Amino acid sequence: MKTQMLELLICPICLPKEFPLIADIVTEQNGDIETGSLTCPSCMVSFPITDGIANLNPMHEPSTMATNKYETEAVVASYLWSHFSELTGDEHSSQAYSTWAEVIEPHNGIALDAGGAVGRFSFEMSNRSDFSIGLDTSVAFIRVARELMKKRTLTVGLKDEGSSTKEFTVTLPDRFMSEKVEFIVANALSLPFRENSIGSFSSLNLVDKVPSPIKHLQEMSRVTRNKEAQFVLSDPFSWSDEAAPIREWLGGQPDGPYTGRGIDTISGLLKDPKGTLQPAWKVSEPENVWWKIRTHTNHYELIQSCFVHAKR
Ligand SMILES: C[S@@+](CC[C@H](N)C(=O)[O-])C[C@H]1O[C@@H](n2cnc3c(N)ncnc32)[C@H](O)[C@@H]1O
Repeated sequence: MKTQMLELLICPICLPKEFPLIADIVTEQNGDIETGSLTCPSCMVSFPITDGIANLNPMHEPSTMATNKYETEAVVASYLWSHFSELTGDEHSSQAYSTWAEVIEPHNGIALDAGGAVGRFSFEMSNRSDFSIGLDTSVAFIRVARELMKKRTLTVGLKDEGSSTKEFTVTLPDRFMSEKVEFIVANALSLPFRENSIGSFSSLNLVDKVPSPIKHLQEMSRVTRNKEAQFVLSDPFSWSDEAAPIREWLGGQPDGPYTGRGIDTISGLLKDPKGTLQPAWKVSEPENVWWKIRTHTNHYELIQSCFVHAKR
């Protein structure tokens, strides 16, 4: 983890109190902390930095293939394809990430991408902000995003048919600036950042995956600046009781306040001058973009992700 991250991070357990973390650096190379820990002076919980990866997820038992479905090699390769195939000119790729990036106006300060997986959007924001941070609960995703950040090129085996694979190489274009991006393991429901500190926040295909969508939005609103902040939220709204109990869904509930569409609920919550996401946001009309997941050479999932851009 880059040493410049140290001044930004606070304890995600003691929120809303803000305790800067005390770094114990064991190995460091050219401003990159390879091994060490970050300890909260209040609760005394210590967050490890291993292989350059800081793990600030308060529920940070090491994720395994059994506990996180995003940890398998095939899923990592599939996400690399979703994020970067557009750059290789693949005829099946989707333009979702460049569409979302164009929505965010270049700004000063920090860009934060929550649930950013293997990093495409954080790389996009590296040349639209002063510094871009991607966070995810998946160690495997953050590992591969950091590898790309450091080596700028990566080859993986993409499932072709059955057990056969074919090579897929990602090479970052010059506009993706390794020195202006970092990736950490953290939880979108307990962000290790101060209130009023983030210039832009993105939540792409995440809100229907967290156990408390409203808590995710409240955390977004807490960390984003009170003025001159932007938020882009995109989601297919594939609500599932595996991710969140039905009472937590922000759309498609059988009864109660959230029987309508999730994108309308979220726009309403953002705009509400007396609501839970203060100060209130100005919100664009919803738009849709096609997002794709690749399973194998002859199998893709086409998913419509509905998005809004909000400013305050
Ligand atoms: C459907 S994927 C979307 C990834 C990426 N935003 C995109 O649009 O390509 C959801 C991502 O959220 C991550 N995730 C799930 N729950 C999370 C949480 N509570 N905090 C942070 N990331 C989370 C997953 O590991 C996964 O990378």
